[in-house]
Parts: sequence; structure tokens; C-alpha cells
Amino acid sequence: MAIYAQNGLFQLNTRNTSYQFTADEHGVLVHTWYGARIPNESMAAGIWRQDVGFSPNPADAGADRAYSLDTLPQEVSCGGEGDFREPMLELTHPDGSTAADLRYQSHEVLPAAQSLPGLPALYGTGEEPGETLVVTLKDTASELYARLIYGVFPQQDIITRSVTLENRGTAPVTLERVLSLCLDLDGAFTLTAFCGRHAMERQPETVPVGRVKAEFGSVRGASSHQYNPAFLLCRPGTTETAGGCYGFCLAYSGNFLACAQADQMGRARVLLGIQPRQFRWELGPGAVFAAPQALLSYSGQGLERLSHNFHDVMREHLCRGPYKHAPRPLLINNWEATHFTFDRPQLLALARQAAALGIEMLVLDDGWFGKRDSDASGLGDWFPNEQKLGGTLGAFAADVRALGLKFGLWMEPEMVSEDSALYRAHPDWAVAIPGRAPARSRGQLVLDMTRADVRDYLFARLSAVLAEAKADYLKWDMNRSVCDAFSRALPAHRMGEFYHRFTLGTYELLERLLAAFPHLLIEGCSGGGGRFDAGMLYYTPQIWCSDNTDAIDRISIQYGTSFFYPACAVGAHVSACPNEQTQRTVPFSTRAAVAMGGTFGYELDPNTLTPQEREAMLAANADYRRWHDLVREGDAFRLAGPGGDTAAWAFAAKDKSRVLVTAVQLARRGYAAPPCLPLRGLDPAARYRCAALGQTHTGAAWMAGGITIKTLLPQYAAVQLLFEREA
Ligand code: DGJ
Repeated sequence: MAIYAQNGLFQLNTRNTSYQFTADEHGVLVHTWYGARIPNESMAAGIWRQDVGFSPNPADAGADRAYSLDTLPQEVSCGGEGDFREPMLELTHPDGSTAADLRYQSHEVLPAAQSLPGLPALYGTGEEPGETLVVTLKDTASELYARLIYGVFPQQDIITRSVTLENRGTAPVTLERVLSLCLDLDGAFTLTAFCGRHAMERQPETVPVGRVKAEFGSVRGASSHQYNPAFLLCRPGTTETAGGCYGFCLAYSGNFLACAQADQMGRARVLLGIQPRQFRWELGPGAVFAAPQALLSYSGQGLERLSHNFHDVMREHLCRGPYKHAPRPLLINNWEATHFTFDRPQLLALARQAAALGIEMLVLDDGWFGKRDSDASGLGDWFPNEQKLGGTLGAFAADVRALGLKFGLWMEPEMVSEDSALYRAHPDWAVAIPGRAPARSRGQLVLDMTRADVRDYLFARLSAVLAEAKADYLKWDMNRSVCDAFSRALPAHRMGEFYHRFTLGTYELLERLLAAFPHLLIEGCSGGGGRFDAGMLYYTPQIWCSDNTDAIDRISIQYGTSFFYPACAVGAHVSACPNEQTQRTVPFSTRAAVAMGGTFGYELDPNTLTPQEREAMLAANADYRRWHDLVREGDAFRLAGPGGDTAAWAFAAKDKSRVLVTAVQLARRGYAAPPCLPLRGLDPAARYRCAALGQTHTGAAWMAGGITIKTLLPQYAAVQLLFEREA
């Protein structure tokens, strides 16, 4: 059993870690340990109690001035009851008071991972069912119950946390803040968040965790390009291979809040969950609210191990469907080749050439429907433009399939253009505040996904299109942030529920589509990586990583993405040069080497390739087939980050039989010594041959000495080296 729960001691054990808390003499859940694996033994002795001025003592502590909720490390904290730190939960009772004080009532241990209603969650498998601890708490002065839900995935060193709140009273309680995670940790830390903007997502940014709060999040209706809902907390001196570090990641795609702050005594409080800004939820009598799941991991061996934990658990227990472990179709997407301007002969010529070059699927991007020759119109009219397609969508897709290709389609279901039949028929379906003209973004408005009638319409329309096309794949895009939050279907006092209900609505539609089309591969997208999160990965096992397809920028985008998300989830394509976003020209082989760090595919017209580029494409496709299983299923290594002259990364088979190293020369300087790259992921005792370098050494020697690339590479050149274990 991974869960120990006896005599008020609760301990969750994974392969290398333990998470522990106790229910103390007052029924308060006191956090006592999260870190390296320990025996099932209370660590409460390490929790000091002392009288601290201006830190109040709960009434039931009597004359004990050393007992204060303000100084205890807690599993859950509510505002208003004497813990003045940033709370996990905040609510307003029917009488207008805002305090809550949750104390232990009961617990149960369940032998399997638990799902969350309408929300993504890690799931158990036959081999690894997971375990769950549910601790029920009750507010001392009301009928509000909280169930803290802890999941354990021992193999991957992952703990999950969530909370449900139930109102067993007779009048509504208003939830003002429901975060999923509250964790009080001793010691000094830095926090690394992954920040950016459209076309430059997930750039690591590190700040010390001090008394001035480190906080970030999204209020954009999606997890956002600007801040990813995942962050690291590292002990001083943590590197890729050494040091104690924690990772926190929210399986949620809507507005979120993340923060870490040292309290008055220097202990760090970590919080993660739904963004409280613009959130208010009315919890009626008998109602239950479920918070999204937070994923936690600890590594005592640096960031590489931490990333492997998240990669493994997401691949095994989050991504679903037939492509969970299967090779994804090697696709070509027409977006950068044609944008909105295409016709049937052009698309079929592109597809024919693609098929001849060994590509496996054509994805028809934006512009195939309604009146959609630019981004000014057409969204919502998911009816094929038969003029552009030279006939029905079904016939076009059949022609593509006749070339030996699978067929995929782009849609942006949550959006509507004002210039569309859908908007003209249902202007009230667009998100807008009555009396205020809603802001446009990319010229478009947002559909009210909180409404069941809107979702029913979309389900019927999308299903009809997918069925007609017999689509193998859907690219689900979302090209703007959501503002003007308002739903005509919600009463005024429930308007604070809009953003969360929007996300739940999108999840519900995705779930219905997957149930109706179980073989459909959905690739998530939000102007590239604006909704790249663990929530979406539950529905879409791959996500277009960024609209920036420049290989050099992509190195840092994919680097930042790799801290939490596995390479099999990272949509990455080779596009034409000069690059559309940066105007940079990079060798084809480098573009292919970088795209091979993700799902791999193309975003260009193969008819425009030079003979050399055609050769390079054929070679890249062959390489992809030879070793992409390492990328998809193996362990990822960040050998040299994008900050230096040479960036390098590797993927190693789980059995360590093969390791693929990719290095790209980012800058070249006068008389610089050739780079010596570190190498990891080999079995020290085995011998490995690298045919490209013409050398054979033990794994120990390779890893101790690293790889010296004797010829200094020109700027932007790449090398890919395969290390194969000798029999
Ligand atoms: C944004 C996506 O990220 C692009 O790849 C493309 O699909 C466009 N939208 C189409 O409008």
C-alpha cells in the first residue's frame, strides 16, 4: 500500500518520495513532510510551536499561546480564522461572515485513482491503478464540508491533490476562492515559472521565494501564452542532475493562480488552483463543487528526474485514446503554405507530393468552410466551402485518402465571426455584456461555452463535418483570450461562475466528441501554445507548441516546455525559410532536427522544395521512422540549454539501448574551441557505438568525457548522433 493512514498520521509513499501530514489534537491537518522517502513515522517533532506576537490562538487551544493557525504548516487554510497568510479557500456564509475553520472528521483509503466530475484527472491503469486518500473536514461553525483528495502514483513519484466542497446547510454559501493546493514548506527556494507571449511561450523565469509574494496566473479564459500553470520550486544549487526540487502543475485549462510566499517565520506557502479574480461560485444547499487536480512531484536528484516524473505520468495516466503510445501520423499542414488562399488542385498537388515523400496525413487548416478567405469572417459556419474544395468535403477527403494519406481538419469551435450565418442567427450566443460592445480579437468573438444549447449545436455540427470527412484528426484551435465575461444564461448572482463554466463547457464538448469518435486524434492549439496544459492533454494528446516555427526560437520554446510536458505532446513541424515569423533562414536539416524533438511534421508546400531540400526531407522522414520511438516513449535530457553557444538535448530508450543526441550551434565565435557536450541516459556498464563519430566506448566513459564534436559547426547547423548499445 502506498497510503498509510493510522492514528491521525497520513503518509503517501511513492518510489522515492513521501508526503505526510497529521490530524493534530484539534483536528487541524498539519503538514509534516514532503521530500525523500521515509518510513511511516511521524515527522511532527520537526514542527515547532511557539508564541509569536500577533498570531492568534484558536478558542479550543485554551491558554496555549504557542498554538496558532498562523504559524502551523497546514494542508488547507481558509481566510478569516486566524491564519493571515494567503488562503487556499475563501467563502462567504449566508450571514455575510467570511471565516471558515476546517477540522478533521473522517478519512477513507480507496484502492484506485479517482476521477473528478467534468474535469481532467490522472487515471489508473490495470498495472498501476493508483491509490486515493480522502480526508473529510468540516467547518466548526457551519455545515460546509471539504473533502481533500490525495492521489498517489508510486511509480512516477507523483502525488495529486484536489478538493471538493459540499454545502450541507440550508442556505447558499458563496465560494470566493477554491484553490487545489496549499503546501507549507520549510527552507529557502527559488520559483521558476514559464512565461512568454504569443509565438514565444514558456520561457523560464526564476525569482527567489521571499516575503514579497511571487505570483502569476491567467485571467484570459485559457491557461495562456503568458504564464503556464506549472512551476518549479528549487532548493539553492539545484541543477539538472542534483538538488532537491518540487514541481507543481495544474490539470486545468482556464484561469489559474499560482503563488509562493515566505511567511513571517520564513516558511514558504505554495498555492495553485483556479484564479480567484473574477471567480465567485454559489454553492446551494446540497451542492458540491470540485476543484481541478494539481500534480505534485519531488526529486532529490535535480530537475531531470523531476521532468521524467511528469513526462511518465502524463504519458501513462493522463493522455488517452489509441494514440497514447502509438506513433502519431507524420503529417503535413497546409497553413503556412497557403494560409486562406487555396483551391482543390493546389491542395491535391501538395498532398500528392507529400505522399510521394512518405508523409502520412494531410491536415486541412483554416479556410475550408463558410465565407473564410481571411480572418475577418466565417468562424462558426462549419459548413464546407464546396467552391474552394471543388466539391463536397467528403469527396475531397476521399481524394486525399486515395493518395494513401489520412485526413485531418482544422476547427475553432469556441469562436464566432460577426460576419457569419451563425452569428446572424444567434447573436446572443456570443460572449458580450449587454449594453457594452464586446472587444474583438483577431476580429472575432467568443461563443458562450457555458450554455448547453451552444454546446449541443457545436456537437451536432462538428460531428456532421467529422463524419462526412471521415476525419482521422482534428486540430482544435482557439485564437483569442476571453474578456467581457458574461452569459445570458446565468443569473446575475452567478456571473462569477462564467470563466470556470466556460472551461467545463469546453471539456464537456471535447469529451462528447471523443466518445462519438473514439479513433479521432485531436491536436490542441490556441494560436500555438496558448492552452498548452495538463488539462488539455487529457483530451488532446498533442498540442501545437507555438505559432513560431523558427527552429532557433523553437529550441528555447521546446526547452521551456520540456520541464513538465513530454515530447510526444509537443506539436512541432518543419516550415519554409525565410521563416514566416522571424524571417530567419536555417538549414533544412536543423529545422528537421528541432521538429523531431516533438511530434514531427511539415508546414510547407513540398512542391516548392529545392532538390537538396527534397533529399533532406526524405532523409529526415527516414530518421524519424528509425528513432522517433525514443522521442515519444523515452526519457528526455536537457544537455545544454538555449542560453549558450550550443544547445543540446537527448532522448534515451527506457531500456537504455539507444540514445539520440541533437545539438544545434546557436552562435559561432572566433577561435572558439569545439563544444564538448555532456551526455546522459546511457548504461555505464554497457558499450555504445556512435557510428557518426566512429567511436565505441562504455556508457561510463561516454558520460564522463562527454561528446566532443571535432569540427566546429557553422551557425545554425545541427548534428544528430545515435548511440547504440552493443549486443
Ligand atoms: C493559429 C494556429 O496556431 C495556426 O497554426 C493556424 O491554424 C491558424 N490559427 C489558423 O487560423
